[in-house]
Amino acid sequence: MFVRQIQTGGDRNFAYLVADDATRTAVVIDPSYQPNTVVRTAREHGFTIVRAFCTHDHHDHTNGNVEFERLTGIRPLLFGDTDSGTGQRIEDGAVFPLGDLSVRVLHTPGHTSDSICLHIGDAVFTGDTLFVGKVGGTDLADGAATEYDSLHSKLLTLPANTRVFPGHDVGVAPESTIRRERETNPFLLRPDLESFVDLKRNWAAYKEEHGIA
Ligand SMILES: [Fe+2]
Repeated sequence: MFVRQIQTGGDRNFAYLVADDATRTAVVIDPSYQPNTVVRTAREHGFTIVRAFCTHDHHDHTNGNVEFERLTGIRPLLFGDTDSGTGQRIEDGAVFPLGDLSVRVLHTPGHTSDSICLHIGDAVFTGDTLFVGKVGGTDLADGAATEYDSLHSKLLTLPANTRVFPGHDVGVAPESTIRRERETNPFLLRPDLESFVDLKRNWAAYKEEHGIA
């Protein structure tokens, strides 16, 4: 499986090009700011882009969509959209073929109600739901509770060696694994919702105390 993490600018946003080596077919995730770079990279590797997704409807993840569609004829899909090729809705559990691989949609509300993660092969693309050593921003009430549930029920249940590719380069490393996040991410080490929210509330002080940028 080919994975290319592309720094697109913005708020240290990442776009992703993910391809099946055997069939040279690819999907794109969050082609914001630099759809041209993403499409050029696919062409340089001889990949045919068959589908694109946005992890949620925030401008820094979707602002390249019009240009991306102009370049490829493919409209990036968000949660709730219907795929024009298969008629499938983008919803929890939806599966799309990618050559010998498949793309599985995980609905992970919290940061936004429409947040999705994409599980492809041995990797998961987590948008703004999970960063390396951090989690996505939410309010401290319903959003945090929903995010806590999404993290624990949808992401931490993936195989431990699953590679984690976040939507922003805002963590302690550009990529991680489910095992490493489970063992080191301070938000995921919190044993219950109350202490998870408590860390969100006191994150600035925690960062300073632990020398986290
Ligand atoms: Fe966001």
